[in-house]
Amino acid sequence: MESWRVGVLRGLLPEDLQSLAAFQEETDLYRFSFYDSVSSTNDVALKLAREGNPHGTVVIADSQERGRGRHGRTWYSPPGVNIYMSIILNPGVITFHPALVTLSASLAVVNAVNSCLLSQSGAGTVAKVPSVEVWPKWPNDIYCNHRKLGGILTEASTARERIRFMVAGIGMNVNMQADQIPPDFRDNTTSLYSETGEVFDRGRVIVKILESFSRYYTLLFNDPASVIARWCKISHTINSYVKAVTPQGEIYGTALGLDDRGFLRLGKEGGEEVCLNTAEIVHLRDHDR
Ligand code: BTN
Repeated sequence: MESWRVGVLRGLLPEDLQSLAAFQEETDLYRFSFYDSVSSTNDVALKLAREGNPHGTVVIADSQERGRGRHGRTWYSPPGVNIYMSIILNPGVITFHPALVTLSASLAVVNAVNSCLLSQSGAGTVAKVPSVEVWPKWPNDIYCNHRKLGGILTEASTARERIRFMVAGIGMNVNMQADQIPPDFRDNTTSLYSETGEVFDRGRVIVKILESFSRYYTLLFNDPASVIARWCKISHTINSYVKAVTPQGEIYGTALGLDDRGFLRLGKEGGEEVCLNTAEIVHLRDHDR
C-alpha cells in the first residue's frame, strides 16, 4: 500500500486532487493521507486512529478494493472519478448522540455540492445548474434528484461506554459515467457528471466538504438542535409517506421528523408514533413539498 503526505509529494497526486496540496498548507484543522488504492478508507482511518493519529486526519484514496456501506454492502469504488475519504474524530465526552455526526457529514456534502454547482454554472451567475437538487435521505444517504449520489458510513471505537474515536467515511460519485456503474446499481445510482454533464475537480469538492463539515461539527457541540433542524428542512424524507424496512418487519407511515438523537419519528396510519434508530427507507410519495 503506497501512501504519502499531500504537499510533500504534490506531484504524485492526480491532477484533479492537486488543490488538496494548497489546502493542506493553509489549514490547521486537517492533515491528509492520500493513497492510490486501499481496501477501504474507513479501515485505514480506523487503523491510523488506533495507532494514535490525531483528530482531523483525513484518509483519501483514488480507489477502494473493498469500499463498504451500511450493513456491509459493497461501495463501488473505481479509480480516478469519485471521492472516497474518511475523517478521524476524537470528540472526547459528547453530549449529543453519535448518529448526529452522520447527519452533519451529510449536510456538509450537500452544502459542498451546492456551492460547486453554483460556481460551475458560470462566473458571476447565481443560478445553479438547472434541475439538480441534492438532499440528504435518512439515515445516511445523499441523493441527487431521485438517485443516490453518495453515502456516509460513521464508525466508532468505544471503551467502557466512552467513545475513543470515530471515523466519518464519505463516498461520493463525482465524475463516474453511467456506463461505469455496475448494471445492478444503475437504476438507483448517479453521479454529479451524470446529472449535469459537467466534470468536477474532486479536490475542490473535498475542500468544500471539509470546510463545511468543520462548521457543522462545531455546531454539534454548541447547538445540536440546529443541526437536526437544518437537516429536516432540506431532507425529502421528512413529510414523505414511507415504507421503513426494519429488522422487526415493514412499517408504513409519514416521516414526521427526527428526535434529538437523530432517530426517525414515524407516524403510523392509526396515529401511533414510533421512533426508528435504523431502517431502510423507501419513499412512497412526497407530502406537500
Ligand atoms: C452507505 O451508503 O451505506 C455508506 C457508503 C459509504 C462509502 C464510503 S467511501 C469512503 C468510506 N470508505 C468505505 O469503505 N466506506 C465509506
